[in-house]
Amino acid sequence: MKILLTGGAGYIGSHTAVALIEAGFEPVVLDNFANSHPVVLERLQRITGQTMALERGDVLDTHWVEDLLRRHRPVGVVHFAGDKAVGESVALPLKYFHNNIGGAVSLLRAMQTVHAEDPSTPPTLVFSSSATVYGDPASVPITEDFPRSHTNPYGHSKLVIEDMLSALCAANPAWRVGTLRYFNPVGAHPSGLIGEDPAGIPNNLMPYVTQVAVGQREHLNVYGNDYPTPDGTGVRDYIHVQDLAAGHVAALKTLLGGGESFTVNLGTGKGHSVLDVVHAFEKASGRPVPYQIAPRRPGDVAQCWADPALAQRLLGWQARHTLDEMCADAWRWQSGNPNGYRG
Ligand code: NAD
Ligand code: UD1
Repeated sequence: MKILLTGGAGYIGSHTAVALIEAGFEPVVLDNFANSHPVVLERLQRITGQTMALERGDVLDTHWVEDLLRRHRPVGVVHFAGDKAVGESVALPLKYFHNNIGGAVSLLRAMQTVHAEDPSTPPTLVFSSSATVYGDPASVPITEDFPRSHTNPYGHSKLVIEDMLSALCAANPAWRVGTLRYFNPVGAHPSGLIGEDPAGIPNNLMPYVTQVAVGQREHLNVYGNDYPTPDGTGVRDYIHVQDLAAGHVAALKTLLGGGESFTVNLGTGKGHSVLDVVHAFEKASGRPVPYQIAPRRPGDVAQCWADPALAQRLLGWQARHTLDEMCADAWRWQSGNPNGYRG
């Protein structure tokens, strides 16, 4: 059974591709390599022993997407493709509205057209949303019924796509849609062959920490130590990308088994501070991670972690990996590939 992965060569898509093969599916990767590298496909082959079909192109090209849906006839689609840098989205909002919202519209229209030609298979989609849709949550843990808001165009684009998907399901009950709100994905495949490969200076904590540990950056700036948290630094729900990948398999199995559309948090339900991550990483890598306390980063919240109970109930899924494992796997990837996929 084929599954189309838009953005399948990216960080989360590549790990999900491996998990899908292990679960007996046949992933087809669609990617324009705007934020990834074709060498990912070779790495995936080394891990799985299988050659994965690649469709190189842009999800914004609706007719091309229709054509490949007709050729491959996937039973489901996972939509990862999009831009994800919060700061860039503030500077270049149209890029985000075009690629993220426009990309989703293009894909959904292509799926709708091809479904109309052959209504025997329900249009089935899993969408990569984010905990960013909760804005600054009033309390933790966060359940799916918390109010949604946005503080930047990236978050806004996720919110609009969630609303589009709800409207589509309301208009046509044939659609089966699983919306997954990821918390903070980190870590890498235990082989050390695939992982997160950010372009330029990383914005997110874990890739920055790994680059400090490998000696590419002098020190970490800890953005604020005066938050109302146990050690004063920001607290997040870090989730191993392998657990996240398993969440996509569980979501697809639920939808393909006839389940209703759903929206769930994918998190561990546990919060860790910036300094917890620094200390766990030092332990995992055996390297020091020097840091300096810096001012708070605008737009950051003090703490954010999931109540993952709904995902467990609906999908039979729960996160299993510890922070120590996340750090050990991130370190194996970074130390084996100091320049990411660029050799
Ligand atoms: P990523 O950038 O590694 O992967 C996205 C992939 O999509 C890349 O390979 C890129 O080349 C491709 N792509 C982008 N625009 C495209 C287009 N128009 N046509 C074809 N391919 C295109 O990002 P990721 O971390 O794997 O994230 C995947 C999804 O999950 C994104 O939608 C992101 O917003 C969402 N998400 C990520 C995180 C995170 O921390 N990584 C958290 C919450 C949600
Ligand atoms: C960020 C995005 C969020 C996105 C998420 C994806 C912002 C404001 N938010 O969230 O929209 O969904 O990534 O994973 O960018 N930190 C440091 N030093 C650093 C980097 C981060 O101290 O160099 C701290 C932050 O202040 C925060 C924690 O580490 O407390 C985690 O930061 P980060 O990895 O950027 O994730 P989020 O802020 O949760």
